[in-house]
Amino acid sequence: MTEKKKILVVVGTRPEAIKMAPVILALREQEWAEVTVLATAQHRQMLDQVMSAFGIDTDIDLNLMRPNQSLTELTARILQGMDEVFREREFDAVLVQGDTTTVMAVALAAFYRRIPVGHIEAGLRTGDIHNPFPEEMNRVVAGRLSRWHFAPTQSARQNLIREGYPDTAVHVTGNTVIDALMTVASRELDIGVALPHDRRLVLVTSHRRENFGQPLREICQAVRDLVEKYPDIHVLFPVHPNPNVVSTVDEILSGHPSITLTSPLDYLPFVAAMKRAYLVLSDSGGVQEEAPALAKPVLVLRRETERPEAVEEGVVRLVGADRDAIVAQASALLDDAGAYAAMARGVSPYGDGKASQRIVSILKEGLSVQVAMPA
Ligand code: UD1
Ligand code: UDP
Repeated sequence: MTEKKKILVVVGTRPEAIKMAPVILALREQEWAEVTVLATAQHRQMLDQVMSAFGIDTDIDLNLMRPNQSLTELTARILQGMDEVFREREFDAVLVQGDTTTVMAVALAAFYRRIPVGHIEAGLRTGDIHNPFPEEMNRVVAGRLSRWHFAPTQSARQNLIREGYPDTAVHVTGNTVIDALMTVASRELDIGVALPHDRRLVLVTSHRRENFGQPLREICQAVRDLVEKYPDIHVLFPVHPNPNVVSTVDEILSGHPSITLTSPLDYLPFVAAMKRAYLVLSDSGGVQEEAPALAKPVLVLRRETERPEAVEEGVVRLVGADRDAIVAQASALLDDAGAYAAMARGVSPYGDGKASQRIVSILKEGLSVQVAMPA
């Protein structure tokens, strides 16, 4: 056997951990790979719960999260922390996932050390660097710094080809979020929160920076309008711990008998909540990918999306963060069984559950792993 290839896999936030978990598990089965898992811990509690749900231990933990951290101080801490790691240890490749500050800063730190980067979930674009903020710029920068681009869909691949990336560097793999979902969704899962059984459940999440302030207020007011209008619904809203989210949501929605506000749910309970939900209102990227696969209509609380496939399929609808528009679009689905059925079709444009296997194969080839021949 030739020497193993040293792969550093990095996670920072909840969605990165969920989407990287199947890749880590697949890589750990490879004889040719020596896998090191590094957590920047841009998120602390939300990252830890995912890693433990998938039974993954972290080898290096930078423990960087601070309350209400700013983008710049977080970026600086990640760059410095990563450079110390790279000074002490050698790697043949670094894998990053998505569009967070962790992804952008880790890719830059690896680039400075001339270590090739593989970018998972590459090529998502809205074309507007301010929406989503700062994710659109993070993924553009991460792309420039990467050698391998693992695009989840053909349209993500096309975005990269249009930007001039060579055909041979861009691989359509599907999104690993579906790999993760498929390992858990068929299990009996418990939401772990007491909810009325006789009501239609509306699941709500919101955390995008561009929605902070007035847009999030409108989202919350729309949620209140909906529970007043429909006595047969109940809202479950796991509140993102970003203080900018908590303060607004608590102020407008706490204390209503038809609204349950909780801390973020762990991944398995959250999948249980999506399965139980009648309708999902969310500005999350991952939820836009998962809920359609579970046949749950999603109203996206944003004006644009880098995930056009499910919108084109008609199973996700963009409604923005306007109070009246949210109420109108949700009412259309709550009132009209036909309109609802047209969106609740169980279409999964983001993957078939085999994305991680494809990523591992491409990486193996890209690192020119020599397969030992029998004597
Ligand atoms: C980050 C990502 C965003 C991603 C989201 C997923 C950036 C700039 N933003 O946004 O792209 O969609 O994660 O959830 O990379 N906090 C906790 N505990 C946690 C996590 C967060 O208390 O486990 C609080 C802390 O006060 C922290 C704040 O939330 O400072 C913000 O965390 P941060 O990662 O900077 O931004 P998010 O809004 O979570
Ligand atoms: N999620 C979770 N608990 C919650 C809300 C979301 O486990 O209370 C999961 C969800 O299943 C999805 C991921 O978190 O896989 C999405 O993360 P988030 O919305 O924080 O970030 P984004 O995808 O928008 O970057």
